[in-house]
Amino acid sequence: MVHINIFDTTLRDGEQSPGVNLNQLEKLEIARQLERFGVDVMEAGFPASSQGDFEAVRAIARTIKNVSVTGLARATKQDIDIAWEALKVASEPRLHVFLATSPIHMTYKLKKTPEEVIDTAVSMVSYAKKKFGQIEWSAEDASRSDLDFLVRIIEKVIDAGATVINLPDTVGYTTPEEYGRIFRYVRENVPNIHKVALSAHCHDDLGLAVANSLAAMENGATQIEGTINGIGERAGNAALEEFGVALNIRKDRYPYTTNLVLKEIKRTSDLVSRFTGMAVPPNKAIIGKNAFAHESGIHQDGVLKHASTYEIITPGLVGIQSNQLVLGKHSGSHAFKDKIEQLGFSLSSDKLSEAFKAFKLLTDKKKEVTDEDLFTILTDIQTDFSDVKKYELEAFQVQYGSANLPTATVALTTPEGIRAETARTGQGSVEALYNTLEALIKEEIHLTNFKLSSVGQGRDALAEVHVSMTVNGTAVSGRGSAQDVLEASAKAFLNAVNRVFFNAKAIQKEKALI
Ligand code: KIV
Ligand code: ZN
Repeated sequence: MVHINIFDTTLRDGEQSPGVNLNQLEKLEIARQLERFGVDVMEAGFPASSQGDFEAVRAIARTIKNVSVTGLARATKQDIDIAWEALKVASEPRLHVFLATSPIHMTYKLKKTPEEVIDTAVSMVSYAKKKFGQIEWSAEDASRSDLDFLVRIIEKVIDAGATVINLPDTVGYTTPEEYGRIFRYVRENVPNIHKVALSAHCHDDLGLAVANSLAAMENGATQIEGTINGIGERAGNAALEEFGVALNIRKDRYPYTTNLVLKEIKRTSDLVSRFTGMAVPPNKAIIGKNAFAHESGIHQDGVLKHASTYEIITPGLVGIQSNQLVLGKHSGSHAFKDKIEQLGFSLSSDKLSEAFKAFKLLTDKKKEVTDEDLFTILTDIQTDFSDVKKYELEAFQVQYGSANLPTATVALTTPEGIRAETARTGQGSVEALYNTLEALIKEEIHLTNFKLSSVGQGRDALAEVHVSMTVNGTAVSGRGSAQDVLEASAKAFLNAVNRVFFNAKAIQKEKALI
């Protein structure tokens, strides 16, 4: 059996998905969950890209001790120095440095000759080697690069100190057979290739990312990169849950092992989906709502006679519990505590009593509180900005009638502690509410996206709203949940605005730790 290392880039390539904007608390929660999921390496961000990314990478490097934490850097001294400052607190500081090697990228993007690209790659890996023990070097757009050029540059970069060589299919262009051939060629022609691990990094533009990753593995890659739910640039990256389950279900074809804990898939997927606001399509392999649903009579009949007729994966394998115990009005704090442990949360005693209060409030309005409801409440409490001065909603009212202009009245407290109240109209209830909030908030706000969904089923289901906006020119996203759609909308709006204050405070706190 060959062991495959799993390199997760949900917090870097995944966070590059359009509209995704995680804050430090959310990144830390995802990082902790990735540790439970059993990834070997996690790419926590791109430290030189922003102060927020830098601080988040550093916080993760300081917190996560059982997984190697890495950060991305372009092939420049400045990026490498910044990455070192963020990662030096890690238990095993690891750098991921990249430079494009395809003719298209070298000519049009880098405007460098192939020889200049080799010189830059070699000198930056040597430079990084003075600081980092582990260095992954990526030949960006490797799948569209000349193979003999790849062989030349890889040999030199290994001599300069790289420990992992990654051959990304940056634009999701390659096919399994072709990608496999690239790995085989590199393995057979780079003389010092035995000194490093080979890594695959696939994008899903043609829907082939997981198939390409499997082909790379069969041709010598011992590290596979990807993201949870396959999120990432454009069509996304290889979905790690799909890759891990494919290896498990087709052990007969794939004699490979990983450290992945498959029963953590559901929770990891839910957490990433909730924090990023990127819903998982119902038909998505492994974790889509319909992945285990059998609709046609013939299939239902077959599954009832023997599950294996139409079911190749059992829900339990990926952590989907079929008989969930729902809580209700009469459930006490013991049952509640047990349940939240089962759901994988460990809360401080303050947060625990806050969560219990929120649960009790919900049971006044909702007969059965499901795992999905609790997951929503608990993730909100786990990542709320409790110690930050922020805008807080006091009360609101929206008047709507088909013959009237919708009007909202809102009262809130500003970060300075001043109560403010006003009213505005809009073409619809949400617009009236948002116009009013905007009038009360001093910040410059542009709403760019609004998504409303329900948590679970039933007419009494919780409403969940995700918004994206710019606040004083900074892109942020926010989420809110409540039984009423307007309350959820107001909460999501304020959650997004308040992130600006939270992010500033998080940066300050991290700086104070230097
Ligand atoms: O897709 C890609 O080429 C990347 C590199 C930075 C590794 O994400
Ligand atoms: Zn990528």
